[in-house]
Amino acid sequence: MKALLKIVVFSLAVICGFAGYTTFGLPLIVPEAPPQEEKLGGDITMDQFIAVGEKIYNGKGTCPLCHNPVGGRAPLLEPVASVSMERIKDPRYNGKATTIEEYIYESMVEPSAMVVVGFGKKGTNDTVSPMPDVSRGAIGLSEVEINAVIAYLQNIAGVDVTVPLPTGDSAPAEEEEPAEVKLAESPKEAFAKFDCVSCHMGPEIEEGGDIGPDLTVLATVAGKRKKGMSAKQFITESILDPNAFVGPEMEGDMMPDDYAEQMTVAELNMIVDALAGGK
Ligand code: HEC
Ligand code: HEC
Repeated sequence: MKALLKIVVFSLAVICGFAGYTTFGLPLIVPEAPPQEEKLGGDITMDQFIAVGEKIYNGKGTCPLCHNPVGGRAPLLEPVASVSMERIKDPRYNGKATTIEEYIYESMVEPSAMVVVGFGKKGTNDTVSPMPDVSRGAIGLSEVEINAVIAYLQNIAGVDVTVPLPTGDSAPAEEEEPAEVKLAESPKEAFAKFDCVSCHMGPEIEEGGDIGPDLTVLATVAGKRKKGMSAKQFITESILDPNAFVGPEMEGDMMPDDYAEQMTVAELNMIVDALAGGK
């Protein structure tokens, strides 16, 4: 509990610290730390199901990481259920949905069926969505969880909630689901999971690559890289927005720039702490 509190407090500190650095679209939202399966059994009312959907939306689903008013990385979702039918009629639409429920479902598992103008992946002319399939990978929502989120989105837009309530049968499905992506539990695991080891040597990295700079000495220099930025702030920025500062004699554009979409806040903090010299 104490550790969790520390993570939350530190995240807030990092986020407040960054509020001044608005040059990049950092998600200014702390998703609830480690995703946990929502308990979904039978005997649940629609109001409860909607409340579960809201929790999944803000927690395990990490939707506000992109869908938030600050970053401008993704459209706001409050009105999505009200605009769904228009989206389906759009000439650019190439999915199969015929109802609001189907449109939201499809948007979550097959985001490129309709890419909202201005929000496509760079260079694809709005044909490819940067949004991950939320039924897979790190987010990995089950069908029931997806339905709960749809119920929540229909409810906040004020349209009829049409998704079915989970039955006793749909609940055990959670256990069958393979844990596709495991949360890293130590800096060492995190460096391996996010493949930092392919390019960097560093603390807790035994065999690292040399495409990027050796991160072993970073703790002593990071605080001096950018005026007004603490070591932790600089390291956080280097990971989330690698091209914001490219070190002397270093080539930019090499390091992946989508770690913000892959990591949980807890994993990011663990990495930053390790690189800043522990603690
Ligand atoms: C990594 C960033 C990211 C995350 C995380 C993310 N989305 Fe998205 N989402 C986007 C972007 C960008 C778009 C706009 C491009 C498009 O239409 O696919 C979008 C589009 C959508 C749309 C269609 C919006 C419209 O107006 O037609 C829906 C619905 C949606 N997302 C739901 C969700 C839900 C629910 C979650 C959480 C379970 C989520 N998204 C998580 C980036 C994200
Ligand atoms: C494909 C290779 C590659 C991967 C993978 C990679 N990096 Fe990098 N990284 C680089 C390169 C090249 C630089 C130097 C250019 C720059 O600053 O963007 C760099 C710079 C950095 C810096 C700034 C160092 C300094 O001295 O200013 C940090 C911190 C960093 N990386 C951390 C990480 C972490 C943590 C991961 C894994 C989550 C990671 N990198 C994954 C290639 C990579």
